[in-house]
Amino acid sequence: MLNFKARLKWVGMKQLVYSIGALILYFSFLVFQGCNHSDSIPATVTFTEHVAPILYSNCTICHRPGGSAHFALVTYDDARKSAVSSAFAVREQIMPPWPADPHYTEFIGQRILSERDKKILQKWAEEGAPEGPKDKLPPLPKYPMGSLVGTPDMSIPVQPYLLKANSNDQFLLVKVPFEFPSDTFASLIEFMPGNRNVVHHVNGDLVKYEYEKKANVFANLRIVNMEEDTASLLHAFQKLGIPNDDGSYPMLRKSVVNYLPGAYGQRYPEGIGGYKLTRKGLFLLNDVHYGFTNKDDVLDSSYINIFFSKGPPKRPVEEFQIGTLSSFGTAEVQPDMIILPNTVKPVYCKYLIPEDISVLTVNPHMHLLGKSFKAYALTPAGDTIRLVSIPRWDFNWQYFYTFRKMVKIPKGSTMIAEGIYDNTRQNLNNPFSPPQLVQEIKGSMRARDEMFQFIVTYVPYQEGDENISLETSGPSR
Ligand code: HEC
Repeated sequence: MLNFKARLKWVGMKQLVYSIGALILYFSFLVFQGCNHSDSIPATVTFTEHVAPILYSNCTICHRPGGSAHFALVTYDDARKSAVSSAFAVREQIMPPWPADPHYTEFIGQRILSERDKKILQKWAEEGAPEGPKDKLPPLPKYPMGSLVGTPDMSIPVQPYLLKANSNDQFLLVKVPFEFPSDTFASLIEFMPGNRNVVHHVNGDLVKYEYEKKANVFANLRIVNMEEDTASLLHAFQKLGIPNDDGSYPMLRKSVVNYLPGAYGQRYPEGIGGYKLTRKGLFLLNDVHYGFTNKDDVLDSSYINIFFSKGPPKRPVEEFQIGTLSSFGTAEVQPDMIILPNTVKPVYCKYLIPEDISVLTVNPHMHLLGKSFKAYALTPAGDTIRLVSIPRWDFNWQYFYTFRKMVKIPKGSTMIAEGIYDNTRQNLNNPFSPPQLVQEIKGSMRARDEMFQFIVTYVPYQEGDENISLETSGPSR
């Protein structure tokens, strides 16, 4: 039994112990915080130690000599010159370009900087962009020439195209014909830009001919300028000699080859995807978008790589499209695609999924008035399956987004795509000043006409699909 005094002392001791304990805890917390802090943002940020690793894994795929951007971020000198603008571009999430919201859904190859990386670039710029010890500079990743995927079995040149000095953006329809000794199969078709500075993006279909119906796939024009030479797609097809000799149309398989800077041909895991190439056929590159040129003429000699496969695809991918040029009459744009000047207009389209499907890749498509895009599916059980959300539409970065794992959408679900168009002066990409009425014109892919399209690549669902990873060991992206 403690007497009263002793008791008081004891309580006092206890309090002291508690206080000391709390202080220790508090200090260790501070120390921990401090460690954490120095762990995330070094006291002095240098190019060789901290900045180059960030640039090399997120930027130099485009920002290097021969890359798609007009300036490099490879050497200390390169990076120093752009230190302030780079810090700004990453803070505002303009760079690296990845318009899809990673909090909504994640995709293969997504390029998103962490908050730590952004702060490092910021601090480096603020502190005068010091170089740091030269021997700390990491090696620049290897960027393979010729193909980003491997060694192709065959390369077919695209007809070279001369861009005159000081020309504006151009949109071409280009045909790349081929004839093989027999029908064959390909696992992957890859577009390689000749001059990355000017080739902006490409979306290409595969046209398959019945051998007897077409005498010569190589005849007629190879290139039609969609803005100047023609306004109608059918007219362009005639000029390119796409129809069979009897005037009927051959089979067409959409989107077999796509290109966008920083993205590479998506090869699905063994057994999924692939194409049959008929003996006579051609790649129809819709929408070859060449960017503007500066004071020099530029000659582009792009080509198409083919990776053959031994047999027919086991699970060929299929594709549907809702919205403009919808593959289904029911999935047309609501209420309509008439976008009055000085208005912000929401549109949507819906499609009832008729069977269980496993979605591999999605591609939202709008033109210059696009403001935002979102797509999801509502299941019969009332769940929402998120597909893609683009809060700030960017005409220049229209990726084909491939999920990390296939996404099952059960039969009876409703797929919904929602878009908003901004036809006001606030939209800096508005092709017209003052704003004018803009609408969808059937068959027109001109940038100044509008489109609302959602392309979905899928396979019919099989048990266990949702566990199959679509990430194949690819090269550096
Ligand atoms: C997928 C290709 C790609 C990637 C990856 C990329 N950029 Fe860019 N960047 C471009 C293109 C294209 C432009 C447009 C200007 C041009 O053509 O040079 C650009 C422009 C810029 C600009 C100028 C912005 C402006 O307002 O004009 C900065 C600064 C920049 N990038 C920094 C970066 C940094 C830093 C990274 C990495 C964190 C990065 N970029 C990643 C392609 C890319």
